[in-house]
Amino acid sequence: MDLLRKKHFDPNQKTDNNLKKSLGPFDLTVLGIGAIIGTGVFVVTGTAAADNAGPALVISFVVAALVCILAALCYSELASTVTISGSAYAYSYAAFGEVFGWLMGWALVLEYGLAAASVASGWSAYVQGLLAGFNIHLPAALSGAFNAASGQIVDLPAVIIILLICLLLTRGAKETARFNAFMVFVKIAVILIFVIVGAFYVKPDNWTPFIPFGYSGILSGAALVFFAYIGFDAVATAAEEVKNPQRDLPIGIIASLLVCTLLYVIVVVVLTGMVPYTELSVADPVAFALRFVQQDFAAGLISLGAIAGITTVLLVLLFSQTRLLFAISRDGLLPRFLSKVDEKRQTPVRSTWMVGLVIALLCGFLPLDKLASLTNMGALFAFAIVSLGVIGLRKARPDLKRGFTVPWVPFLPLLSAGCCFLLMFQLDIWTWMGFILWMIVGLLIYLFYGYSHSELGKSNPK
Ligand code: ALA
Repeated sequence: MDLLRKKHFDPNQKTDNNLKKSLGPFDLTVLGIGAIIGTGVFVVTGTAAADNAGPALVISFVVAALVCILAALCYSELASTVTISGSAYAYSYAAFGEVFGWLMGWALVLEYGLAAASVASGWSAYVQGLLAGFNIHLPAALSGAFNAASGQIVDLPAVIIILLICLLLTRGAKETARFNAFMVFVKIAVILIFVIVGAFYVKPDNWTPFIPFGYSGILSGAALVFFAYIGFDAVATAAEEVKNPQRDLPIGIIASLLVCTLLYVIVVVVLTGMVPYTELSVADPVAFALRFVQQDFAAGLISLGAIAGITTVLLVLLFSQTRLLFAISRDGLLPRFLSKVDEKRQTPVRSTWMVGLVIALLCGFLPLDKLASLTNMGALFAFAIVSLGVIGLRKARPDLKRGFTVPWVPFLPLLSAGCCFLLMFQLDIWTWMGFILWMIVGLLIYLFYGYSHSELGKSNPK
């Protein structure tokens, strides 16, 4: 058995799409911000401040940003070298061979799928917060993921938004870039409103004690809010539509991360200054903070903006998930029907609905905190492998033209992978068990299905 057979990437080969090469660095940055800012800052900050890091959550955000920037540099080199769809899955396939490419793809399926489920739960929390402002309350049974104690059975708004987005995706993605740009504007506006209004209500006393849970709290907070940065990798999936990918992709990836980091840091400083961190364990902390200081109108605005902004994150995540499954199935490692494109609509209709139904079930019934940490585990694993992939691909394919090169190889990629592993070890034992189980299932699928159906295997029979 040759589990390490490598896919040969030919930079001169024409890809079988006719996508217009229209995106520049600014568009990519906007795309990145659209994919990044969502539930992480609007939802996860609450529990991370209350249960993990306290006001020092701002340091957690900086730590998570540093880890992401290191990984982003590595992503940039690979994205500027292997400019085909499938992103990290395709890089690993070329750098380490099929079994690792598959495992990477499988971890990304987990990352995108669970992130979408988790983001949908956040969306639901903001919708319900807004409705509550008008005194409309959903019946308890339909208001949240399964929880016997509070009588919740299913998170109906989350299920509905996932299905609606699938409907949109199957209609074909037209001019999503313009829609996305508008939403990015709304998101940034909402964040600025929060910061400007909130700044007047900051009480510096709320920042003491600054590090109530010690340094380990800061690190576990970083592992949790890492979620807020997920999405920058989606920029790399646009590789085939960029005018000058070798130069523009790294700029887009890194600029969007920097802008988001700056916004997150300011939001967290204001948030923890407005409300004692112990009170922040709520599902819509940013709007809650404004209600806490009786700014109900601003709170309503924030909720509306958050709902709109989170919707684009969902759109990108579900889109990336279907693209990824498309790429894996095109290589034969998953059943063919996942890469079947509907002739009339020119979108992978069946796989979109399949993905949508699975994710709707997940976010309908599983509690958010479990989803977010498992998402982070998948993403951190993927980023670690991407980082090592830089070293691997330089060895495997020194001939390829690299538009962007990571400095200090192998030191920097090793540092990046090490930081990802460090954050992975901050996640709890249940998250680890869930992840290991997922990867074992993945390995079995590969051994019993993927290996024998692989297109690469068929073209080079041993
Ligand atoms: N970074 C994305 C969010 O925070 C997943 O919603």
